[in-house]
Amino acid sequence: MAGTGLLLVLFLFAHMAGNLKIFVGAEAFDHYAHWLRDLGAPLLPHTGFLWLQRAGLTVAVLAHIAAAVVLARRARAARPVRYAHRPKVQGSYAARTMRWGGVIILLFVVFHILDLTTGTVNPVGDHDHPHANVVADFAPGRWYVTLFYTLAIVAVGFHLRHGIFSALRTLGQRSARGERITRAIALVVSLVLVVGYLCVPFAVLTGLVK
Ligand code: HEM
Repeated sequence: MAGTGLLLVLFLFAHMAGNLKIFVGAEAFDHYAHWLRDLGAPLLPHTGFLWLQRAGLTVAVLAHIAAAVVLARRARAARPVRYAHRPKVQGSYAARTMRWGGVIILLFVVFHILDLTTGTVNPVGDHDHPHANVVADFAPGRWYVTLFYTLAIVAVGFHLRHGIFSALRTLGQRSARGERITRAIALVVSLVLVVGYLCVPFAVLTGLVK
């Protein structure tokens, strides 16, 4: 869980950095998207890097889900007799919503690919002009799209807060003082990602990016 999760977090940082190019301008944003398609040339064919990334992300997500299932089974096997009474408070909100949070993120990614990669549900859906796709997507009249993205990104934030904390513990961080530091790292990393992702739709919604 920890290894695949950290790989996915690396992707999230790279993707966020790319998205923030929208503040440099339409040309810079589209240029970055075209550069991604030709990354690795001439060794890789056109869009070769993107396909390698897609394959890597798919394997990482599937392995992440498989690890979650194995862990859930082990937890159940360790306590074959179910609790007659389960105390209500067990861990943070983020910790208690990992399973459903993961499902929501997966559904969001499917919608997001249909929206900004294939353009199927995007009002513009022009492969060569991702800037136009993003601006059309989060236009004020389509506030419900921004609302949906906001809910999904906040779900990503909660998932990451608990996920990063657990991953760092799994990878060897054990002391009591270290636990506080690990919690702080998890919170800061999640907040940076949530704010970094949300500022794009809100910049379009408020007319800062046109
Ligand atoms: C408001 C925030 C976001 C914006 C503006 C955004 C923007 C985009 C754009 C423009 C593309 C298409 C890139 C291209 O055609 O070159 C894309 C693809 C993608 N995004 Fe996002 N994204 C956001 C949030 C997210 C989040 C939170 C995730 C993951 C949880 C994510 C995962 C992906 C994936 C997997 C792809 C497909 C990459 C591919 O073509 O293989 N995005 N995004």
